[in-house]
Amino acid sequence: MAPDAAAPLKPCGLTRGSWERLAHAFEGEVCDIVAADSRNVIERVIEGLRRDFSRSVLLDLGCGIGTFIQTHGRRFQSVYGADFSLNMLRYARRRCRGVSNVRWLQADLSRIDHGTMPTGDLTVCLNVVTSPSKRIRNKMLRSLWKLTNPEGTTLLVVPSLESTLFVHRTIKTGQLTGATKRKLLSRGILMCDGVAQKYFSKPEILEAIQQAGFRNCTARRVWIPWSEEGFEDGHPRLKGKALPWDWLVVGHRDGSGDRASG
Ligand SMILES: C[S@@+](CC[C@H](N)C(=O)[O-])C[C@H]1O[C@@H](n2cnc3c(N)ncnc32)[C@H](O)[C@@H]1O
Repeated sequence: MAPDAAAPLKPCGLTRGSWERLAHAFEGEVCDIVAADSRNVIERVIEGLRRDFSRSVLLDLGCGIGTFIQTHGRRFQSVYGADFSLNMLRYARRRCRGVSNVRWLQADLSRIDHGTMPTGDLTVCLNVVTSPSKRIRNKMLRSLWKLTNPEGTTLLVVPSLESTLFVHRTIKTGQLTGATKRKLLSRGILMCDGVAQKYFSKPEILEAIQQAGFRNCTARRVWIPWSEEGFEDGHPRLKGKALPWDWLVVGHRDGSGDRASG
């Protein structure tokens, strides 16, 4: 879903009901970052952690249709895929039939019952913390921290504000007015197909994840194809241009974990 304009004063994010409906069209309509990551940045970051995960637990929060688990789940001793959408979980279960060690849970990351929820040595949360409400985003990030085991690591992907501005500069010049651009810059909230979504600058997401409790946090770009922004990769205006990107943040629960380089 490509962003189009700045949000109204009280923007509404995607509800659980919207995600239930989107599940049926996920592959065509939603950016599946593991599938879109053609330069294998996520894979390289996992390798860079230099850990043997064969005795570890993976917890994918907001797992969608399960692409991370399908791709990486077999490295782990046990895997949990959690999402608040039952339809997403249904698709994920079907797609991950070949991964034997997975349990699927319905859970809302913004209201987790920490008494009943499993924790992970590697937690992943890919393009889930996008609510226009700062209070909800902070609750989700704090839950992510609580659900990451001591000495564990989290991989968080969020939409990039810098990338969005780059996309507009490259191809959509004239669509963002001065005032709109100022609003966007100050709040990082854009409308995506009529729904408000949060875009983070690199300093903002690093500060937010550190405030949630994570240590030794780093952020790098996961490049995504122009087609995710609604343009053909061979479009003449894209010649010689870089690709858009999301931010991939690596954070450690206690600061003593390995640091991924780059
Ligand atoms: C953009 S999709 C990303 C899916 C997957 N992580 C990926 O990268 O392909 C966002 C997913 O997060 C789920 N989600 C959004 N808010 C959530 C919440 N508060 N608790 C649990 N899941 C949530 C949605 O149902 C959807 O499956």
